[in-house]
Amino acid sequence: MSGEAPKSSAPPAPAPPPRPAGAPANKSRRRFLTLFAVVGGLLTLVPWIPNMGAFLSSSAGGAATATGNQTIILDENTLENGNASGKTVNVNDLTTFPPNSTWVMTYPSSGSPSIDGQNPNTFVKFALIRLPKELGGANKSASDFVAFSKVCVHLWCSPNYNPTQSVDSSENGYMAGEATHELYECPCHGSGYSVGADGKPVGLALIGPASVQPAPTNAIPLLTLTTDTSGNLQVVPPIWDVDHNGVVAYGRVTGNGAFTGGYNPQ
Ligand code: FES
Repeated sequence: MSGEAPKSSAPPAPAPPPRPAGAPANKSRRRFLTLFAVVGGLLTLVPWIPNMGAFLSSSAGGAATATGNQTIILDENTLENGNASGKTVNVNDLTTFPPNSTWVMTYPSSGSPSIDGQNPNTFVKFALIRLPKELGGANKSASDFVAFSKVCVHLWCSPNYNPTQSVDSSENGYMAGEATHELYECPCHGSGYSVGADGKPVGLALIGPASVQPAPTNAIPLLTLTTDTSGNLQVVPPIWDVDHNGVVAYGRVTGNGAFTGGYNPQ
């Protein structure tokens, strides 16, 4: 018996065919464009992919939670927050924080309103809205406010509260003869989220493309609010799943009993 290893009987690999005349000399650009198109297509599907939002929000920092209640100090940013920039929000202060108004805050906060004001990450930004008076915005309690994620659940633009109304001429946002908005409106494709008017669930998209997406991708995530004994507004540690505070950039369930008609979903 020989100790030599048997020789392979496999035929040699065929030589690659010659490149046809006129074929592109460099495939890397075509591969890049193909990859670009595939990634772009997948991103448009994100709101429709279960658990994808959870992955993305946690990877972007939106699912972080502070230890204990966080007293709300607005971002130090006069463009966004005017004379309330960098201030602690107190529900008893109807002058600095008047009804039917909005400001930008960060959750979880760095602890410095200046650093928060320079943080461009919309996944940790929330629009704090003091409701119009007819929706309870002058009751001097935590339920005067809602705090919505700044990431639209359609394609991730940043909505803003539109206070326009024609109900109370003494109130911010009054415009005689104008149609009432009082919605959290996205500038990109026109989704509009409820702040609770007409008994609609808070945060539910009423108009625009987000309103025709299936639950839970048809409602904006929000923060749970409370106050300390001095009336300072605070964030209760959120539960970042669709049945509670929602998943940033993905959505939240409304109308399941836990959220109906309430601004504090716990
Ligand atoms: S990204 Fe908000 S409506 Fe499209």
